[in-house]
Amino acid sequence: MQRRDFLKASSLALSYVGFFTAAPINAFGTSLKGQNLLGFKAISASTKDEVIVPSGYEVKPLISFGDPLFSNATPFDESKTINATSIANIAKTFGDNTDGMSLFPLDDERAILCVNNEYINPELLFNDNGKTMDEQKVAYEQNAVGVSIFEIKQGQNGFEVVLDSPYNRRITAHTPMQISGGAKGHKSMRTKADKKGELALGTLNNCANGQTPWGTYLTCEENFDDFFGSSDANYKFTESEKRYGLGVKSTYGWELDSRFDLAKNPNEPNRFGFIVEIDPYDANSTPIKRTALGRFKHENVEIVISKEGNVVAYMGDDEINEFLYKFVSKGKFDPNNPKNNKNLLDEGTLYVAKFEGENLSGKGEWIELSYGKNNLVAKNGFHSQADILINTRLAASIVGATPMDRPEWIAADLKGEFVYATLTNNKKRESTDAANPRVKNIYGQIIRWSPKKNNHLDTKFEWDMFLLAGNPTKHPNSLHKGTSNITKDNMFNSPDGLKFDKFGRLWIQTDGDYSNKGDYEGMGNNQMLCADPATGEIRRFLTAPIAAEVTGLAFSSDHKTMFVGIQHPGEKLAPSHYPNGGNSTPRSTIVQIRKKDGGIIGS
Ligand code: FEO
Ligand code: CA
Ligand code: CA
Ligand code: CA
Repeated sequence: MQRRDFLKASSLALSYVGFFTAAPINAFGTSLKGQNLLGFKAISASTKDEVIVPSGYEVKPLISFGDPLFSNATPFDESKTINATSIANIAKTFGDNTDGMSLFPLDDERAILCVNNEYINPELLFNDNGKTMDEQKVAYEQNAVGVSIFEIKQGQNGFEVVLDSPYNRRITAHTPMQISGGAKGHKSMRTKADKKGELALGTLNNCANGQTPWGTYLTCEENFDDFFGSSDANYKFTESEKRYGLGVKSTYGWELDSRFDLAKNPNEPNRFGFIVEIDPYDANSTPIKRTALGRFKHENVEIVISKEGNVVAYMGDDEINEFLYKFVSKGKFDPNNPKNNKNLLDEGTLYVAKFEGENLSGKGEWIELSYGKNNLVAKNGFHSQADILINTRLAASIVGATPMDRPEWIAADLKGEFVYATLTNNKKRESTDAANPRVKNIYGQIIRWSPKKNNHLDTKFEWDMFLLAGNPTKHPNSLHKGTSNITKDNMFNSPDGLKFDKFGRLWIQTDGDYSNKGDYEGMGNNQMLCADPATGEIRRFLTAPIAAEVTGLAFSSDHKTMFVGIQHPGEKLAPSHYPNGGNSTPRSTIVQIRKKDGGIIGS
């Protein structure tokens, strides 16, 4: 067998390490035959400008950027006219850069889909490719980001968007949001427009997401710094502002709007970088920024309920050498008392992870980030819990957390035995440790930890490496070849999206280098793969169009339709015209995938 040859040939046989055995075991040698969790035939890498799925499956778009959510909105306009009308219109359509999403069932045929609209691609939005920005363009972009919430209904040929549903809603950079939890009202949360520090406008760079068992959607604010700049080139940045990536020139030029100009509103960025809770069943509800979960570049949030009923939220901070976090609620989830669950995310304890070990496994610890503990005291700049919640990165560094290779999504398995996290890559890593074992890590890895005795409240855990991504063809003799479950037929780089389906399959989405050249040769466009967590086997399930990232995943209640986000096809003017072909502008799109025989996805 190829895999066995591969293992034999490799001088550095990185075997799959099992938790519950002292010695490393190779889980692949024997168990591939006879297991049937992965029931589809793997597809090849692709560089085509289309979404490809395995034989026996069909794929079609559900909604693309600019598609109306209301009947009084006009469809996407290829003329790209920017004026008051188009600015108002875009806020009534599906936003740009589809990312994390969750499905909330209404009945057998209908559901609400909540979808993040992470950012914008000015090079595709404007006729001058965004080379110059003005206030109107900024206003247009502010209405194209945030969150889109809409009803979908199963029809003859798959799901369709229900225009004008009472659930339909666009949340933009202007939508009022309550600030709650420990940072509410703190002096660094106050602005000229909000003297109490209790009401923010908008949510930004909504990357991935989470879903609570009490029926709310969690949207996670990631690279908010991209939207802020300073009209004063000599603005003196604090240590915290620098750590959060703020600089004089923003990525998007939004400092044309004084709210995003640090020289005029230095506290405004302190009101972003949080997890925001939204009630999808009430389109008039006010979203709530849950500051107790810390401020950083949030990727997603994976909610687990402890045996005792506490809400445990696992979170990653996506930047090189940043950290993995855990929040444990003080209150307990009570399925029979919805009112009681409403504010569970306001009070609790925040922790950050420290990893130790060798040979791709080891032990770890959750270190508490509470005021007065672990040197989080005045002499280190912390005068309250609010200081920790607003400057979480600085606090985590003080307590000795392990700098990771860009934490992206986190997913807990069905029994809550293992929690998996994608560490997407870290091209700048100079020194290694057990959990981040490669310098110049261009491929990324998936690490997993196991709370002791399945107790998510325990501050100790054991961990191992589910995979190191790599290129076994290009790097047969180094760690860059990847672990033994990476082969020439399934290789990929930069794992990012990560989610279990309800049958225990682990779906992996990539956001990496799609050049298909050099170190990345043989990987093709970004892709989605599916892993059997028991055997470690990985099969490629989907390939994305040109220059797109695959991010965001939801299933219909019957698991017979899968929704997948195709983000930024044709970014940086790469030659994509997905999804409409011809000369059309490429647009971020959610696709729906079904098995032609009507079966369960993946089976
Ligand atoms: Fe928005 Fe870390 O990806
Ligand atoms: Ca991501
Ligand atoms: Ca990414
Ligand atoms: Ca992205």
